[in-house]
Amino acid sequence: MDKLVIHGQRRLKGEVTISGAKNAALGVLPAALLSCDICTIENVPDILDIKILKRIMESLGTRFEDIDNNTIRIDTRNVNSYQATTEDMHKLRGSYYLMGALLGRFNKAVVTFPGGCNLGVRPIDQHIKGFESLGAKVEIEHGLIKLSAEKLVGASIYLDVVSVGATINIMLAAVRAEGVTTIENAAREPHIVDIANFLNAMGANIKGAGTDIIRIRGVKQLKCNVVHSIIPDQIEAGTFMIAAAATQGDVLVKNVIPKHMESLTAKLMEMNVNVEEFDDSIRISAGDKLNNVNIKTLPYPGFPTDLQPPAAILLLRAQGISTITEGIFENRFQYIEELRRMGAKIRVEGRIAVIEGGYPLTGAPIKALDLRAGAACVIAGLIAEGETEVFNIHYIDRGYERMVEKFQSLGADIKRVSC
Ligand code: UD1
Repeated sequence: MDKLVIHGQRRLKGEVTISGAKNAALGVLPAALLSCDICTIENVPDILDIKILKRIMESLGTRFEDIDNNTIRIDTRNVNSYQATTEDMHKLRGSYYLMGALLGRFNKAVVTFPGGCNLGVRPIDQHIKGFESLGAKVEIEHGLIKLSAEKLVGASIYLDVVSVGATINIMLAAVRAEGVTTIENAAREPHIVDIANFLNAMGANIKGAGTDIIRIRGVKQLKCNVVHSIIPDQIEAGTFMIAAAATQGDVLVKNVIPKHMESLTAKLMEMNVNVEEFDDSIRISAGDKLNNVNIKTLPYPGFPTDLQPPAAILLLRAQGISTITEGIFENRFQYIEELRRMGAKIRVEGRIAVIEGGYPLTGAPIKALDLRAGAACVIAGLIAEGETEVFNIHYIDRGYERMVEKFQSLGADIKRVSC
């Protein structure tokens, strides 16, 4: 087991390059199962969640060839199993995309319930409603979800809640269904568009991804030899933008799509952070006077819930009282208890965190309680006086590629050591 040791209060300076989007890659790899052929995916983040997903897909008969650290060739010709039931399934949320992908390929799937960060109940009823609408029978037995259909037939599906996972899963299952599927009240996150683009490049007919109505006209077969490059990770980019602002730094964040960052950019500007946008990079610089703001997390294009914990650290540096309202997950403030050990003045009232800024944090041993809470712990360490130790860093490894090296290259005093 490793931990991070951080000596804080150094301004971040320099350039950092953002990796491919975790949540896009977690959908694109299973989507390749729908083609029964070979494709090449570039800009795949080298992170634990992807390693685990590859292992699960290998257990189904997929062959992966690593062309380099971030480019893989996927051969799905010999996939002969529709049962994804290994222990690994519990280790990540994204394993749920194997439901839609295997159902789409075999008209059958048996999968273990997905795992992922503990942010509350995280039901999958909307995924199941979608599969049932397409004609699948869904049974839940002994912790397994069993899906089967004579054939999948397009349908109109209205999502009761805006769900990223359900939108993508229904898209995967509908790509080869007979007729037209419409998803209304669909999620609009950038990686939904990325996955739809990949499917369309393979011959799917998906229109409207990125809006709240997606139409999928089923096709019989998907073709081979597609080369697809994963979009930059919006959340990793946001993490570095926030860290730059919180340390009063000056950082050029490269390989980003500035449009994807608009909700964060707007808040940073409101806080008096300088934000300069270029074609595929954003420069962040900040002084010591930050304004207090109120943030509410919402589905895209609103402020992303995954940036809520890092944003809380930045608000600790602002003068006066700020609030964060968590609009997506019911239980995403657990990390605040860890921050209190560092002297953070934050109280939680239901879904609202009230943050009293302007008091210095002091280094302490703290635990990453989930992936994005882990990122918040690191930024807290970067601004705190003295030494911070961050434990449970396997959570950070799940979603951030070479995070320590990237912060070191910006001048942070951070290292990974074994406990
Ligand atoms: C995905 C992301 C996660 C991100 C979240 C919101 C992956 C692997 N994970 O998670 O990083 O924080 O989107 O942007 O891409 N809900 C239901 N029923 C359902 C599905 C969802 O009630 O069937 C609720 C959830 O409990 C939550 C809300 O809808 O309150 C949004 O969840 P959803 O968008 O599905 O998040 P995930 O796909 O789990």
